Amino acid sequence: MLHGKMFILRDFFEKKVVGDVGRIGSRYDDAAFRCQLSDGEFARFSRLIHDVAGIKLPPVKKTMLDGRLRKRLRAVGAVSFAEYFDYLASPEGQELELHNMLDAVSTNKTDFFREPKHFQWLSERVLPEIRGRARNGRQRRIRLWSAGCSTGKEPYTLAMVLAEFCDLYQDIDYSILATDISTAALAKARLAIYEDYKIEPVPVALRNKYLLRGDGDRQGYHRVAPRLRRKVDFRRLNFMDAVFDIDAPLDIIFCRNVIIYFDKQTQAELFKKFYRHLAPGGYLFIGHSESLLGIDGKMRRIAPTIFQKK
Ligand SMILES: C[S@@+](CC[C@H](N)C(=O)[O-])C[C@H]1O[C@@H](n2cnc3c(N)ncnc32)[C@H](O)[C@@H]1O
Repeated sequence: MLHGKMFILRDFFEKKVVGDVGRIGSRYDDAAFRCQLSDGEFARFSRLIHDVAGIKLPPVKKTMLDGRLRKRLRAVGAVSFAEYFDYLASPEGQELELHNMLDAVSTNKTDFFREPKHFQWLSERVLPEIRGRARNGRQRRIRLWSAGCSTGKEPYTLAMVLAEFCDLYQDIDYSILATDISTAALAKARLAIYEDYKIEPVPVALRNKYLLRGDGDRQGYHRVAPRLRRKVDFRRLNFMDAVFDIDAPLDIIFCRNVIIYFDKQTQAELFKKFYRHLAPGGYLFIGHSESLLGIDGKMRRIAPTIFQKK
């Protein structure tokens, strides 16, 4: 579960673990729950979160962290932030709770067709260029990666764009790898069911083709059609892992609105890994408020947030 992070955790946690607490749920006490996250506790948690997930939490995020962790304290029945931290240090906490804590602190905001110009670029420039390079009479599979896919709206948007393109050309097919650190976000993504208001950015023609309207219990929701769901492989992956378990080179990586939460060194290290996983001539899309670090010289900038491996 920790993907080789045990050595880092050992540096963090002092040895005085919860001790006789065991199932700390039984000790939950509402009065004790009114405790506040102290500056020292904030520093401990934010260092842990940074080292495990790369996410930096400046002091202005203290109230946010207090609120999000509080829900986890309640869930496991810890009576203070210190006890919760110690529980995370225990083998049981690392096995059962660390991923819940990361779920609680990660920001999963996403949308269908978020930053829509990227998808226009993709269908009008990038996909025809990749197809043009590949033409040799054999079918070519375009491999994409939605890195930091959250609840699935980005990879399913990619799937709609790719399905439209592949309908035009019989010699081309596609597959999408979609990864995130958040198990809760991935569970929603695999389910592929969204409230009606969340599908509003999807053009009507694509909605009619690729989203199924729910009825009965599912009225007010749409589900992504099986034809697209089959094309997306959702997996848990932590960008802080030394090595990514991805075999074949990727033609296109979307990593948008993720690195804003990382410091510059973590961003540069992540971009180096992306570079290694990109096929020659492959494309990297980043978010509009983000910039490329560490591999700038090795990538051709074809639009402010779109880069091609030289
Ligand atoms: C704001 S969402 C962006 C979703 C989507 N890319 C978009 O632009 O709409 C950021 C995602 O990055 C994920 N994330 C944060 N740290 C991560 C890490 N260390 N490894 C993998 N994913 C991470 C979060 O769980 C979250 O789902």
